[in-house]
Amino acid sequence: MSQRPIALDFNEANSSEIFAQRLPQSKDSSLSPILTSVVEHLHEIIKELRPTPSDWRNVIEFLTEVGHACDERRQEWVLLSDLFGASALVEEINTRRPKGATPNTVRGPFFRKDVPELPLGSMISLDGIGERLNVSGRVQDLDGHPISGAEIITWQANAQGFYENQQPDQQPEFNLRGILRADEDGRFYYRTIKPAGYGVPDDGPVGRLLRQAGYPLRRPAHLHFVIKAPGFETITTHVYDGRDQHLGEDAIFGVKQDLIREFERVSTDGTPLWQLNFTFVMARAKQGTGA
Ligand code: BEZ
Ligand code: FE
Repeated sequence: MSQRPIALDFNEANSSEIFAQRLPQSKDSSLSPILTSVVEHLHEIIKELRPTPSDWRNVIEFLTEVGHACDERRQEWVLLSDLFGASALVEEINTRRPKGATPNTVRGPFFRKDVPELPLGSMISLDGIGERLNVSGRVQDLDGHPISGAEIITWQANAQGFYENQQPDQQPEFNLRGILRADEDGRFYYRTIKPAGYGVPDDGPVGRLLRQAGYPLRRPAHLHFVIKAPGFETITTHVYDGRDQHLGEDAIFGVKQDLIREFERVSTDGTPLWQLNFTFVMARAKQGTGA
């Protein structure tokens, strides 16, 4: 009895097609088109780069290391996504805002949500190390109306370029972080120290890989903000120090013209004091999406 030939023998030409054919094609399966596309692109990369089985084991070993490098304080997968430009691209695709609204950038791996709410005017540097910086600003809508009660979450690196959760033994918990609430005129203000630019962590698998490739791992000095208000799109963004030399080569593609500000030096008694003012402009949330 002759055997019917198997319809499709797996080979280089038909590999992703075979994968796709095994997936249910029903309209209710939202996973099928996603998996089909992911596998198609993965097979394309393999066909282009032609790794040996040993090369491929190295890739799997690398991805295993990325997973093992993650813990409560460190998110190596986020770093991989950020440095490959994936996080910035996802933001670009999802948050096309009307002209005049503050753009989003990536949130990055050093965000913490369990941060204390502080009164306006608070000093968020808990060790006081660094040059003083007064930050003030306003949260408003596209017509210039204040958004009173808007929540302002901020976090930043210290004067050496390290976040509190990178140095739990050297910096006080919650150093250089806080949640503030805009007053009835949409205004907010707090005191801090001037952050330094920094190199993204290169002591893990992702940083090591990119350093080996000669990729620049610098981030220009910046403050992080998440701004939330009911009925408006949440803004996740950075404000960059306009004097930083590395604005043009940010490792994670976060710099945008609208987010650069000159920190102004205000000389009082010879000790440096800087000030920064920034207006956050929120766009209304689209119907069906929350703030
Ligand atoms: C940050 O700005 O905190 C950051 C973002 C992406 C990668 C590393 C750091
Ligand atoms: Fe940062």
